[in-house]
Amino acid sequence: MRPFRVHIPATSANLGPGFDSIGIALSKYVTLECTASEEWHFIVPEKDQPYIPSGKENLIYKSAIYTAQSQGHSSLPPCAVKLSNDVPIARGLGSSSTAVVGGIELADHLLQLNLTDFEKLKIACAIEGHPDNVAPAIYGGIMIASYDGGEVDFVRFTEGLENLTWLAIVPDFHLETEKARQLLPRELPYKQAVHASGTANVLVAALAQQNWELAGKMMMHDEWHQPYRKQLIPGFDDVLKTVDQFGASGLYISGAGPTMVALFDQFSDSAFEKIESQLPEYKHFSLRADLVGVHTEPASISQQ
Ligand code: HSE
Repeated sequence: MRPFRVHIPATSANLGPGFDSIGIALSKYVTLECTASEEWHFIVPEKDQPYIPSGKENLIYKSAIYTAQSQGHSSLPPCAVKLSNDVPIARGLGSSSTAVVGGIELADHLLQLNLTDFEKLKIACAIEGHPDNVAPAIYGGIMIASYDGGEVDFVRFTEGLENLTWLAIVPDFHLETEKARQLLPRELPYKQAVHASGTANVLVAALAQQNWELAGKMMMHDEWHQPYRKQLIPGFDDVLKTVDQFGASGLYISGAGPTMVALFDQFSDSAFEKIESQLPEYKHFSLRADLVGVHTEPASISQQ
């Protein structure tokens, strides 16, 4: 087997009211360098070793073997996989989706399955349960997708995204999706659900028309999850006040949090530096939309 390298983008899900259905791929990456080996093992950067297992319990392997089995193969040729990880773990930037999509891509390449993006998406949804992170990690751009446990339908947007900045403001603590989902109500009153759905509809229309001001406004009017999750992110209001001063169109909790993402259609290095200095307790990443999604290339690798 020739060594190869897989690149998977980070993602930011929900964009406010697009709960469990909308996500964007962003310019931060996990890279997997894969070479033939005696047995499966993952070479994990030291900073991530407490969170990412090096054996077959790794989510990348689990997703790869799930993919193999879904296509009628009982095993995968053993590999050593060296991870480079730029995506903070359990912060709402799609780290677990990078593992799921990376695993699917490994299986596709190792077994020469020639899966289409749509086949990869169906497998990823079956593993992850919702499409908002995995869909953009596969396709790139903004994906608006609906999954009912069987069928997946989606629309992809890319137009105008190259001019936008998605400023990720990352608090210094982890938040497990499970915990952030437990805070959500089991039901919403009908009238409120209709209103919440109207906000999401306007968000989608605004994205389609590249009306970033209106999209940003709708991001902040979400009623599905942010009002409940804000309590887990004590700095949310301060962050909002700060990015507002610098002309952000909107701010939302990325995925299940705790990262917050501010959308800017005009942004400068000096604004970035000022926001960083006003909010020193956070990490800041000025990101662009990734329009490519997961991709694989040949590699010549020296394993350590
Ligand atoms: N839509 C999901 C949530 C994203 O907000 O819980 C994280 O998996």
